[in-house]
Amino acid sequence: MTETAPNRAIVLQGLTKCFVAGGTLALDDVSLAVQAGEVFGIAGRSGAGKSTLIRTVNLLERPDSGRVTVLGQDMLALEEDALRTARRGIGMVFQHFNLHTRRTVAENVAFPLEIAGIAAAERRARVAEILPLVGLEAKRDAYPAQLSGGQKQRVGIARALASRPKILLCDEATSALDPETTREILALIRDLRDRLDLTVLLITHEMSVVKAICDRVAVMEAGRIIEEGRVFEVFTRPRHATTRSFVAEVIGHGVPDSTLARLPQPEAGEVRRLVQVVFTGPHATRAVVSQASRDFGLDVNIVSGRVDEIAGEPFGVMALAAYGAPGQVERAFDWMRSLGLTVTELHA
Ligand SMILES: Nc1ncnc2c1ncn2[C@@H]1O[C@H](COP(=O)(O)OP(=O)(O)OP(=O)(O)O)[C@@H](O)[C@H]1O
Ligand SMILES: [Mg+2]
Repeated sequence: MTETAPNRAIVLQGLTKCFVAGGTLALDDVSLAVQAGEVFGIAGRSGAGKSTLIRTVNLLERPDSGRVTVLGQDMLALEEDALRTARRGIGMVFQHFNLHTRRTVAENVAFPLEIAGIAAAERRARVAEILPLVGLEAKRDAYPAQLSGGQKQRVGIARALASRPKILLCDEATSALDPETTREILALIRDLRDRLDLTVLLITHEMSVVKAICDRVAVMEAGRIIEEGRVFEVFTRPRHATTRSFVAEVIGHGVPDSTLARLPQPEAGEVRRLVQVVFTGPHATRAVVSQASRDFGLDVNIVSGRVDEIAGEPFGVMALAAYGAPGQVERAFDWMRSLGLTVTELHA
């Protein structure tokens, strides 16, 4: 991912967008580069500007200022016909599937091809090619009402891929699905990325989706990107408070109240601090805890601990209760941070 690598599939530069004159910016100077072949996630809470951002890629939303370059093409410079052609190279999948209820699976998949004026024989060939890829061959003549949510989204994905795009945009593609179906659809998207050489830009408000499928992630808040990086880095070393709380939903494990209640109270002149510590790399966790106890005069209680992984890279998560002199507890945490551990306060 060096600067010299020319294969940047999507480049967004300095995008701004304001829907209401004088109102807040839905996009506030957003820049982003997505490499060809990666699954790039945009995470953020409701209203952060995620949909507005993803819709600028195919110009469903025109930015007020900035540049949009897709596969080397300056999208904002294209005339209507050229833009229509460029859009065929960018498939899009939606949260609520947006299927035609009166059309069969095959007819839904063929619909954008029909709009594009592609002949019936060619449409049939494309549908026959794409349905097996999403596991829906047997459902080609079914109507949407006869399908499960997961199957409906498979139709949505097949329709998005019917024009053989190299870019796939997914706006909350799994948000209407249960966890098991979500896992299946995410696995399918990854598999299609590999088989069809796709670049995938996806939006989600769920960090579990990012953890499951993305190579890199950007976190948005109030129309801005507040943090961006490899998923492993962002999860194990979040820099922004919003990212930390987001990530904690997935890798954190709140300490049950019953466990909290059983923790000893601090003695006079002592404080008790409960923290989550994320370990990556070669740190021997016991050694860090015992050295912190020794060098800073603390009592450290390991409340819980487990090992997790992202894309095969392991990391450890522990909850610690530390007791000691006020300044010393802080200094111990700072020392742990200086080793590259992420230390986050859990409770007062
Ligand atoms: N067509 C529109 N007209 C007016 N305001 C809009 C329009 N579309 C979006 N906005 C506003 O722009 C901001 C960003 O909205 P956007 O839909 O991009 O957020 P989001 O991150 O996708 O949220 P969600 O997770 O709820 O889908 C919000 O304040 C929203 O109200
Ligand atoms: Mg949205």
